[in-house]
Amino acid sequence: MIKMTKEIKKWWEETSQNYQKECDIPIDIHYGPGSPNENHYKLMGKLKGKKILEIGCGGAQCGIAMAKQGAKVIGIDLSTKQLKFAKELAKKHKVDIKFYKGDIKNLKQIKSNSQDIVFSAWALLYVDDLLKCFKEVKRVLKKNGLFVFSLNHPFWWVLDKDNMKAKRSYFKTGKYTQTFSDKTKKFVMYRHTVSDLHNIVVKAGLIVEKIIEPDSRKRYSYDPWYNLWDYKLKALKIFPPTIIFKARKK
Ligand SMILES: C[S@@+](CC[C@H](N)C(=O)[O-])C[C@H]1O[C@@H](n2cnc3c(N)ncnc32)[C@H](O)[C@@H]1O
Repeated sequence: MIKMTKEIKKWWEETSQNYQKECDIPIDIHYGPGSPNENHYKLMGKLKGKKILEIGCGGAQCGIAMAKQGAKVIGIDLSTKQLKFAKELAKKHKVDIKFYKGDIKNLKQIKSNSQDIVFSAWALLYVDDLLKCFKEVKRVLKKNGLFVFSLNHPFWWVLDKDNMKAKRSYFKTGKYTQTFSDKTKKFVMYRHTVSDLHNIVVKAGLIVEKIIEPDSRKRYSYDPWYNLWDYKLKALKIFPPTIIFKARKK
């Protein structure tokens, strides 16, 4: 595993337990902080009988909700701890999901042209090479298959949530590292502009059908992140924390 992915894996192994406890994510197909859910957007249509791959599945709350609707779900994540949580949660909800441990830049466990939908919620911000990942998504999708994903809206990182002023350049893309007083701890993610994200999907050979910037000025009862960390109403009224893409393999 290359160094960049190692840093992300370390973070998630150390964070998983607290993250799952603090967020207490409901079993639902969510798109992230400040966003309506799939029940509202209906981007994927009826899921019964659909083969769905969830990349960066974490605790698999979305995958479990899909399986409960009759989808045949596979979840992939690089964190052993996140997968352990996901497996126990799937068992508790009596759904059968196949889980694989791996880096979603290489979907080697999945056959080409086999999936109706590839789904991802708030995992792709941790991927250092999105083009590689999206080319793999294209490979595993059936013809006309859907790629629906959400991640952090690029504008959210520009805003200083203490004084509501811009604190970072929107154009400063690439690796972002946050360090802590505990030198062994390091949070790493990758920043893109909105056009970067769009153009990487296109470069991977997929057709972008829709980009959604969820209206975060409203509070959604099922949003577990509302008022958590920096997802405070004051900031949510100015910028959306989440952006959603719907793309298709033609
Ligand atoms: C914020 S969590 C989101 C989990 C889940 N999708 C959800 O919405 O609750 C991000 C997840 O992405 C996973 N992840 C990050 N980079 C990854 C990679 N390159 N390959 C596989 N999983 C990755 C992490 O281990 C973590 O479980």
